[in-house]
Amino acid sequence: SQLEKGGYPHFMLKEIYEQPSTLVDCIRGRINPDTCEVKLSGVIDHREKFVNARRIIFVACGTSWHASLIGEHLIESICRIPVEVEYASEFRYRNPIIREDDIVIAVSQSGETADTLAAVELARKAGAFVFGICNVVGSSIARATDSGAYIHVGPEIGVASTKAFTGQVTVMAMLALAVGRERETVSDAYYHEVSSALLYLPETLEEVLKVAPQVADLAKIFTYAHNFIYLGRGYNYPTALEGALKLKEISYIHAEGYPAAEMKHGPIALIDAEMPTVAIATPDHTYEKTASNIEEIRARGGKIIAVIARDDRQVRRSADYVIEVPVIAECLMPIVVSVPLQLLAYYIAVYKGRNVDQPRNLAKSVTVE
Ligand code: G6P
Repeated sequence: SQLEKGGYPHFMLKEIYEQPSTLVDCIRGRINPDTCEVKLSGVIDHREKFVNARRIIFVACGTSWHASLIGEHLIESICRIPVEVEYASEFRYRNPIIREDDIVIAVSQSGETADTLAAVELARKAGAFVFGICNVVGSSIARATDSGAYIHVGPEIGVASTKAFTGQVTVMAMLALAVGRERETVSDAYYHEVSSALLYLPETLEEVLKVAPQVADLAKIFTYAHNFIYLGRGYNYPTALEGALKLKEISYIHAEGYPAAEMKHGPIALIDAEMPTVAIATPDHTYEKTASNIEEIRARGGKIIAVIARDDRQVRRSADYVIEVPVIAECLMPIVVSVPLQLLAYYIAVYKGRNVDQPRNLAKSVTVE
């Protein structure tokens, strides 16, 4: 009902706008605002497991799988533990190699996805320690795991996941910091940079949301595009995948996410004036490379919407349109960048007259195999 939507026309828009406050709930009690120390009870209680883990395997589906790709990057760089990311449905049918010193992390908003639950059961049988990152308290996956951390973002009603994604990445960042500290693989300076940026996330997201009117204007310009490509590198490669998935799910426009540098190995053949590119080009250690990938698209007549920092000078010159975002620690930029991409998908779907909260053929949680 209208009341439940809190005055917003759709649950999805409400959930996008809730993100500053859902991240307050996600972080509450887990990062000390005075010392910036991160504490996750699910990690503290199983400290030895994390300190001695030989490998971490994420299992998930859909948006939760995209969040897991960011988790891979966070854990490998902060904890120096090798990580694999698996589609739960592929993992479970492959007779996977699972060892007792592996940690399997199951990521699921609903905690009810059938394939993810089956992957959890398989991993436990094989003797691995299984950690859950779920939203729904007491859900099947939360109950089937040895330990875990809830994302605490409140009920997500819109079929297209938004606030769960940012909550998942936030929990993964806290997990990486907590484990990195125990394993002594993270410097104090970096630990504090990331944990203080996490504390400021709610304010940062309030800032990001101010781009909504500008994103709505862009959505109007591109409502009738038939295809989209989303590009990013590093931490923002999964953000590109997630941006494309959002657009597909609710607008039914074909969209593909790609690592920017892989473009030249195929997808660049698709580029013409009818194929817009959403390029994520926020400042990070591959910025220069991304800038030249964007130039290659421009040289082929492609239209470019670039997500950039406010003080960007370079990419701004090759882009047709820009979306400006605040800049925080590189490893947390997917949380910032995903917000305008959620809004872009939302407004395009609205302008196309789609059923935003209940897109055709999709279910909020897939409890069949
Ligand atoms: C469905 C939903 C997606 C979700 C995926 C995994 O496909 O429509 O939004 O990402 O399931 O769901 P889970 O609850 O396991 O995160």
